[in-house]
Amino acid sequence: MAFLEWDEKYSVGIEEIDQQHKRLFSLINGLYGTVQKVEGANDMKSSIIELSAILSAVDKMEDYASYHFSTEENYMLEYSYPGYKAHKKAHDLFFESVRKFKREADEGKAFKLTDILEYLKKWLTGHVLTTDQKYKKFFKKKGLS
Ligand SMILES: [Fe+2]
Repeated sequence: MAFLEWDEKYSVGIEEIDQQHKRLFSLINGLYGTVQKVEGANDMKSSIIELSAILSAVDKMEDYASYHFSTEENYMLEYSYPGYKAHKKAHDLFFESVRKFKREADEGKAFKLTDILEYLKKWLTGHVLTTDQKYKKFFKKKGLS
């Protein structure tokens, strides 16, 4: 079973956004796979190599999240969605947390790899199931699908 499993309950009724959410799920699953490898590594050298793979997987996920959030925010602006500000703030807070993680990793601070994964899983599923669901009806009325 994948770390993050897609389910219809995550659908926001807009094909393009659902596809992007699926892609984010899959990027986080990829990151999970890399973390599993690090934990299975038995020498320091391969741990360091895997660690840099993790940081680049985090960058990739962050880039895609940025692209995805822009898609949502652009629709919100285009259709004058009333919850735009609060929603954008939630997206911005997500980036702050990811940046904090990367800063700590750069500074060599001890952190648990599983913590960031649990954070990503909890944040993304929570966000899609609550904050994103709030725009579902609104965009449906506007004819987006
Ligand atoms: Fe969102």
